[in-house]
Amino acid sequence: MKNSVILSRQETDKQFEYMERVREVVGGGKVFIQTFGCQQNVSDSERLLGMAEKMGFKKTTVPEEADLILVNTCAVREHAELKALSITGGYKHCKEKKPSLIIGICGCMVSQEHRLEDIKKRYPYIDFLLGTTLMHRFPEILYGVIADKERRFWIDNDISVISEGLPVSREPGAPEAMVSIMYGCDNFCTYCIVPYVRGRERSREPEAVIEEVRSLISSGVKEITLLGQNVNSYRPVGRDGYGFAGLLGDICSLEGEAVIHFMTSHPKDATYELIDVMAANPPESGRVGISRRFHLPLQSGSDRILKLMNRRYTAAHYLSLVDYMRKRIPGIAITTDIIVGFPGETEEDFSATLDMLSRVGYDNIYSFIYSKRVGTPAAEMKDQIPEDVKKERFSRLIQLQSRISKDKNQIYVGKRVRALVEGRSKTDKDKFTARTETNRLVHFDGEDGLTGKYVTLYIEGAESHMLYGRLSEADEGDILI
Ligand code: SAH
Ligand code: SF4
Ligand code: F3S
Repeated sequence: MKNSVILSRQETDKQFEYMERVREVVGGGKVFIQTFGCQQNVSDSERLLGMAEKMGFKKTTVPEEADLILVNTCAVREHAELKALSITGGYKHCKEKKPSLIIGICGCMVSQEHRLEDIKKRYPYIDFLLGTTLMHRFPEILYGVIADKERRFWIDNDISVISEGLPVSREPGAPEAMVSIMYGCDNFCTYCIVPYVRGRERSREPEAVIEEVRSLISSGVKEITLLGQNVNSYRPVGRDGYGFAGLLGDICSLEGEAVIHFMTSHPKDATYELIDVMAANPPESGRVGISRRFHLPLQSGSDRILKLMNRRYTAAHYLSLVDYMRKRIPGIAITTDIIVGFPGETEEDFSATLDMLSRVGYDNIYSFIYSKRVGTPAAEMKDQIPEDVKKERFSRLIQLQSRISKDKNQIYVGKRVRALVEGRSKTDKDKFTARTETNRLVHFDGEDGLTGKYVTLYIEGAESHMLYGRLSEADEGDILI
């Protein structure tokens, strides 16, 4: 394994040359990007789009109109892969209608050798496959496909590059933005494919991260999410002792006003120092602060299962972190990820997970049925849990959390909250949605001019996944976070 290197100026320049060459030979056109998976992938798609725009392509939301289709895939569960494959299959008709169309698949799914080989054979109309660690070479692969009229398949899970200096295309005027602070993962949780498809953990230089955040704030972005598979192991090369808490502290001393979120944290690496930095820097008007929300994936409440998962913490350690957070940051919202039906999970292990839900009192959970991933240790473990048992446990987990979330949300009824308006609701076009600091979604009657602005809402009703409110400008009582 080579050490991680920051993309050389030479390599960046080379890619800018390819962008120019593609622009010359293609002379415009439209690009459609479909993104699956986590925010890391959404962030990667912003870079792919940035490069595509530099090559003269304009973004379209209609695949039939496109001259270039990119599918940025996820491999975290089987369902994510099947969805990406089926959507990709659907683009065959676009190619039949427009033979000059170029289709490329990138991201985590195609970074697996077996998927790469399968797509190469079974999807002859796919022009290129590009792995996550080679994303910066997108202009080069595209140029090769166009110039040589040949298919290309590039993955290399052994290289660890940090690509600075390539174009990024963010939604113009959007109040929220994401900034990757690190790439890859070295934790090798036994169920997880991510370390195999995203390469070794590598941290960007703090100066580069801070400059990107500074420039977003000065351009009017209000909320910024710092991204990494395990932000608590942020460790830039050659900066002994400088970690995630230090980075957050430096970001909070920037000029301007913004709220910083981050994800994801690993309980084995989350520090008391980090919680102290959060406590010292709450969001306040006129300054940069850190939101009072913490996503801390538990996965299982059973120490036996946590060990089999290679998570390297115990339920007791997890609870001590939660206690400290609650003590230092009153009102903090805590959310988690849970996997149900990990190999060997007994009813007793599962009860320990339910017990943790009640003890922690999560504001929300993201729960997943265990999915076997080719090449991971858990896929080879004995005692795989039958589907019906997994589903039954999953539904009990959801039921319990629904009650807990609803109870937590009820506290807001009759109180006011401050929230950032996201726009028209996806489910009811007559309503608007806004997101609170603790990541609660509020439905309310609004107007288009409010999108991207903060409003104060009086909460009139609550369900487990939604608050219902109305604009409240007059003093109508307490404002909760
Ligand atoms: N790096 C992050 C999350 C990465 S994947 C972390 O460590 O928390 C997001 C979530 O997907 C994980 O937290 C886990 O709950 C879930 N997940 C990962 N692999 C899975 C698998 N094989 N089956 C089911 N869920 C999985
Ligand atoms: Fe996967 Fe574990 Fe890494 Fe998260 S920390 S990405 S769950 S291996
Ligand atoms: Fe999926 Fe890759 Fe993210 S596997 S969850 S898109 S890191």
